[in-house]
Amino acid sequence: MKWEDLDDCVAFINDLVGEKDSEPNLGIMADRKQTREEEAEWLATQLTGIEKGKIVSVVAEVRGRLVGNGSVTRGSYDDTKRHGFLGIAISRKHRDRGIGLEMMRTLVRESRRVGLKTVQLEVFASNRRATHVYERTGFKEAGRIPKKMLRNRKFIDSIVMAREL
Ligand SMILES: CC(C)(COP(=O)(O)OP(=O)(O)OC[C@H]1O[C@@H](n2cnc3c(N)ncnc32)[C@H](O)[C@@H]1OP(=O)(O)O)[C@@H](O)C(=O)NCCC(=O)NCCS
Repeated sequence: MKWEDLDDCVAFINDLVGEKDSEPNLGIMADRKQTREEEAEWLATQLTGIEKGKIVSVVAEVRGRLVGNGSVTRGSYDDTKRHGFLGIAISRKHRDRGIGLEMMRTLVRESRRVGLKTVQLEVFASNRRATHVYERTGFKEAGRIPKKMLRNRKFIDSIVMAREL
């Protein structure tokens, strides 16, 4: 991720937010589209985290444009600093082409390289494509939070998945 990616990031997140009504499984939490200023603030925090070794960041580009964003954020306490929280999204037009699997493999490899020992993520139980990709990259269900998510007036279970590195 680079500062020059800002405009791509704005388009990327806002496309995902725009999908939420039609794609009820989408693991995107933002409630509304982001302004350029809001996204700049988010990107600045990301870049600082990457620079300080608190965030492992992987992006996918197609013809120079950002189409996938993934990160693992290191726990912030002494007790949790060998544990990471993973998040990933690919833009709609570029899903199901193997990009997510490749990014997950890279995130696992890079997380191990920087000394993390365990990684967790959380996913809508109904998001079969995502759980499939996570299982293919060694993640197993560690627990389920029934009805954690409320999307389009329906409650959906959330699955916590984790793996050792
Ligand atoms: C989940 C996500 C990151 C996966 O990335 P991707 O690039 O689309 O995934 P890939 O192309 O690498 O792999 C897709 C796999 O899912 C499988 N798949 C697709 N739809 C599926 C479904 N409905 N049920 C089960 N498996 C499915 C494909 O067959 C493929 O598996 P295979 O390689 O074993 O054949 C991406 O689809 C995404 O960003 N989705 C929207 C945002 C999101 O939900 N993020 C997850 C937040 S927790």
